[in-house]
Amino acid sequence: MAPDSNPFAMPLEHVQVQPAGGNAAQRVIGPRDFAAAWAEITAWEGYAPTPLVPLPGLAACIGVAALHYKDEGPRFGLGSFKALGGSYAALRVLAREISRQLGRKVPLAEIRQRRHRDACAAITLVSATDGNHGRSLAWGCRRFGARCRIYIHAEVSEGRAAAMRALGAEVIRIDGDYDASVRQAREEAEANGWFVVSDTSWEGYTDPPRDVMAGYGVMTREICAALPVPPTHVFLQGGVGGLAAAVAAGLRQHYGADSPRVVIVEPDRAACLFESARNGRPTAVAIEEETIMAGLSCGEPSEMAWEILREEARDFLTIPDALIPPTVRLLARCETGDPAVRAGESAVAGLAALIAARKSKALSVALGLDAASRVLLIGSEGVTDPDIFAAIMEGEDAA
Ligand SMILES: Cc1ncc(COP(=O)(O)O)c(C=O)c1O
Repeated sequence: MAPDSNPFAMPLEHVQVQPAGGNAAQRVIGPRDFAAAWAEITAWEGYAPTPLVPLPGLAACIGVAALHYKDEGPRFGLGSFKALGGSYAALRVLAREISRQLGRKVPLAEIRQRRHRDACAAITLVSATDGNHGRSLAWGCRRFGARCRIYIHAEVSEGRAAAMRALGAEVIRIDGDYDASVRQAREEAEANGWFVVSDTSWEGYTDPPRDVMAGYGVMTREICAALPVPPTHVFLQGGVGGLAAAVAAGLRQHYGADSPRVVIVEPDRAACLFESARNGRPTAVAIEEETIMAGLSCGEPSEMAWEILREEARDFLTIPDALIPPTVRLLARCETGDPAVRAGESAVAGLAALIAARKSKALSVALGLDAASRVLLIGSEGVTDPDIFAAIMEGEDAA
């Protein structure tokens, strides 16, 4: 096989850092934040843990001892782990606002049980999204009876926009990229008295993003309960970094010193965490071309997520888009004898990076990966856009 016919043989860009010391994994989102989100979300109708799929056949092919893939496809019927974040943050925003209006602390359960129907119906929650966060927010707004406006950028697929409209959201498509949609959502919310429920944080805006990350903690708790032994590595795909930071913090709180080595994986077209690691501070990058990994197409890191990742992550990798279709097909076709998994483009970034890393001796050594490694992967979405999935499945892998 010619080396360039196999996309996994291309060297990946890698930055290794000495993580900053500190207790961000306890301080930025504390065990109490995670516990509160767990207590609330697991009480929702339709809650069920998502599968943690062991992939022993693939592990043997790749050359690691164990591989576990947390399949977030079935999460609340919404297709991704994001179902845990935006909806929970929406509930908390509503509870805070109605508490303010009534001059007493309104418990989340009162909002959930629709005891403040009229007050909720007068509140509009807004956010920018590349699809999955908006879907979660729209779903939460419908559940709790608030109005919802979602800002999407030019490249978000029509399938993803339609899914949000079907949940009752008003969807506004703007001309620019994801970061421009974040700015527009903020500006219009300020002008109209709406509430931004964002999955990314910035100076002075931290409550909803913390709640979003606390919601993601449900996934980490389920993983820790299901894993027989701690993993040695976790490969975490990064958009703004909220997923990675929430999982890294949750694992640290659970495993302490036995927490796995955290490897961050981003598209080379939107590598803001990689650049932040290189510079030692949150760094924005310009997105010149959209990546196929739509959920990871973010040029500005979440400041709050970065606070955690600068202490918890040791390695940052970027991957080219070319790795994604073959990895989606690999999981769906299960030629290794493992259960078939139907995954979206952003879900497989960690697996794609792992396969490429194991093909390089130097990168395996640098990441401390060997035949004894036990790797955890977050399958962050299922088939959130059936047309894109079908097109990928029709493609051919290089012989
Ligand atoms: C499927 C999927 N995976 C991963 C991510 C990355 O999450 P974060 O932006 O919190 O880093 C996203 C974000 O939208 C996503 O939709």
